[in-house]
Amino acid sequence: MRLALLALLVLAAGGAAADEVARARVRWAESKHGPMLERILPPTFDPAQLPEPRGRGARLMLRYCVQCHNLPNPAMHDVKRWPSVVERMVLRMRGKGNMGVLMKDLMAGVEAPDDAEYQTLLAYLSRHAQKAIDPRRYPELVRPAGEAFRLACQQCHVLPDPARHSAKEWPRVVARMQENMEWMNRVVGSTPIAGEPQLRVEDINAFLVRRAKRAP
Ligand code: HEC
Ligand code: HEC
Repeated sequence: MRLALLALLVLAAGGAAADEVARARVRWAESKHGPMLERILPPTFDPAQLPEPRGRGARLMLRYCVQCHNLPNPAMHDVKRWPSVVERMVLRMRGKGNMGVLMKDLMAGVEAPDDAEYQTLLAYLSRHAQKAIDPRRYPELVRPAGEAFRLACQQCHVLPDPARHSAKEWPRVVARMQENMEWMNRVVGSTPIAGEPQLRVEDINAFLVRRAKRAP
């Protein structure tokens, strides 16, 4: 009933993407696992920010990848990592994933991509993927200067290449990552626990800014 009403509202607003996003919201609201699903990915990445927004890849992302959590950013993972993540997600959508009991509650109405769509999604994510740091070019990564960055920034994805952003951009990206960490309930380290990595934002920014992309 609520679903039907929502579908109507969404139709009035127009847009298949908005439709999927709205249906996911309903699914979360109605599930006892909702709070967990909502925390899987942060809400920071907007459909308008998708690369090639009118292309097939972006459209498939908005159809399939928002059914259980917030929209993933293709730049989150590198080309090596995406295949295993996408495979895990597609198996799940096809009802063959892990977390069986949790997912069973939620699978009603979840759509799965066919094989051609699966390949399109993977190609799209790979094309716009993160670029991992090359440790040979950054020897200080394994020294104290790179330690804060190395420990904090590999918890959710590969360590990004510092040349991805300019010195001006990095502190903003790091601040967003701090929010991502809070959202995703990862270690932030504001209250030190023995052995737990701490988020040393100044050290991380110092490393990234020193090695940032040179302004043209
Ligand atoms: C049927 C529900 C469902 C759908 C649809 C779904 N996911 Fe997920 N996703 C999950 C669950 C549950 C998790 C947390 C557990 C895990 O990481 O496997 C997750 C976690 C993630 C993560 C964070 C974990 C990591 O390894 O970085 C990413 C990124 C992700 N999904 C991407 C995608 C993409 C891309 C799609 C579309 C191709 C997609 N998801 C579709 C259920 C789903
Ligand atoms: C809690 C998990 C998590 C941690 C820890 C994390 N990130 Fe991320 N990162 C994400 C997610 C989710 C995205 C995609 C959404 C976004 O861009 O905010 C992302 C995307 C990125 C991107 C690609 C997007 C862009 O704007 O270039 C970069 C670069 C990045 N992270 C850098 C970092 C750095 C540097 C750190 C350490 C300070 C870090 N991340 C720690 C979750 C995390």
